Amino acid sequence: MNTHLHVTAWVLAFILFIVTIVLRKQGKAKGAKIVQMILRLDYLLILYSGGDLLAGYFSAKGAILGEAIVKGLAGVWIIAAMEMVSMKLAKGRSTKGAWIQLIIATIITLILGFGRLPFGFLP
Ligand code: HEM
Repeated sequence: MNTHLHVTAWVLAFILFIVTIVLRKQGKAKGAKIVQMILRLDYLLILYSGGDLLAGYFSAKGAILGEAIVKGLAGVWIIAAMEMVSMKLAKGRSTKGAWIQLIIATIITLILGFGRLPFGFLP
């Protein structure tokens, strides 16, 4: 299973995202852009490993498949919200709505990922 790759990829994404935000706030637009490019490559790893985990649920039926699909959608939502925060910050617009989305999507994803679905490495 791809759980370790998946967790490594999204932990890295959160770190790169924070670095992007900090550089942006310091007015280092070029550095922020470079780190954001690396972050976008990391999204591909997240999507690949998450998609592979999700594929493992399609042989299951019923509620657990539904939860896995919602987990995947919430994961994609995190990526979208991260992009929204970066874009609004770069344009000097309010980031409040984007941050709220990021927090909600993260809570849903962590609850479903760690709390509910069985493929994880936590007991
Ligand atoms: C930044 C975005 C994401 C975060 C923070 C995240 C977080 C997590 C977490 C915490 C787990 C549980 C790992 C464990 O129990 O050891 C997990 C598993 C999983 N993720 Fe993601 N994920 C993200 C993106 C995605 C995406 C984009 C998809 C689908 C395309 C996806 C699909 C899955 C699936 C199917 C599992 C397996 C659930 C299980 O059996 O434990 N994830 N993810």
